[in-house]
Amino acid sequence: TKKGFIFDLDGVIVDTAKYHFVAWKKLAKSIGIDFTEEQNEQLKGVSRVKSLEKILEWGQKNLSKEDFNHLMTQKNKDYLSYINQMDENEILPDVPKILNYLIEEKQGIALGSASKNAVAILERVKLIDKFQAIIDGNGVTKGKPNPEVFLKAKEKLNIKPEDCIVFEDAIAGIQAANSANMTTIGIGDKDILKEADYVFKDFTQISTEFINELIKKD
Ligand code: G6P
Ligand code: MG
Repeated sequence: TKKGFIFDLDGVIVDTAKYHFVAWKKLAKSIGIDFTEEQNEQLKGVSRVKSLEKILEWGQKNLSKEDFNHLMTQKNKDYLSYINQMDENEILPDVPKILNYLIEEKQGIALGSASKNAVAILERVKLIDKFQAIIDGNGVTKGKPNPEVFLKAKEKLNIKPEDCIVFEDAIAGIQAANSANMTTIGIGDKDILKEADYVFKDFTQISTEFINELIKKD
C-alpha cells in the first residue's frame, strides 16, 4: 500500500536546531536568563511563542505584552540572519537519498513542522519540490505534542494515520505522532527519544531496505 511519510523540518531535514539554540540563548542572556542545552531540548518542536513563554517561566520573569512581542521579533530576526546564509550544504546527510527513494516508490511525502519559516527554508535548500503537502506553523493552531500538524498532513496526502510514518527529532513531535496513531521514527539520541517506535542517529543509518519494509507492511 501507499504510505505517507511525514517529515519534521528543523533537526530532521536541516540542522537549524543549532540556529534556534544560539538565537534563544542570546535572547535569554539579554534579559539575564541562563539557558541550557537541556532546556533547549524541551523547546524542540515547540512554537516560537510557546518557547519564549517557557524561557520566561524558567527564568521567572514577567514581561509586558509589548516587551514580549519585541523579543519575539528579535528572536526571528536573529534566526533569519542565519537562515539566509543557508544553502544545500546544510541538508542533513542522506536526506535527499531517502526523499528520492520515496519519490521513486511513489509514496506520499509531506512536511509537518511547527516553524513559520518552513517554506523559506525548504526553498533555500532547494527541497521544496519534493513535498506533496506542507503543513507548517502557519497552518496549525495547536502545537506539538498536539497531533494537529500530522493529522492535517495525512488529510492532505489522503492517507490513513496507521499508514503514516513520521520522522522527528523532538520529544514533543514523537508524542504528537504517537497520539495521531502513526509509526514514529526518532532521529537523534535513543535515550532522549524513548517513546519512538524506532530511533536512528541520522539518515545515514536508515537503509532503503528498511524503508521498503515500512512500505510493504500492511
Ligand atoms: C520547530 C523548532 C522549534 C521552533 C519552531 C518554530 O519546531 O524545532 O525550535 O521554535 O519550529 O519555528 P519558527 O521558525 O516559526 O520560529
Ligand atoms: Mg525538529
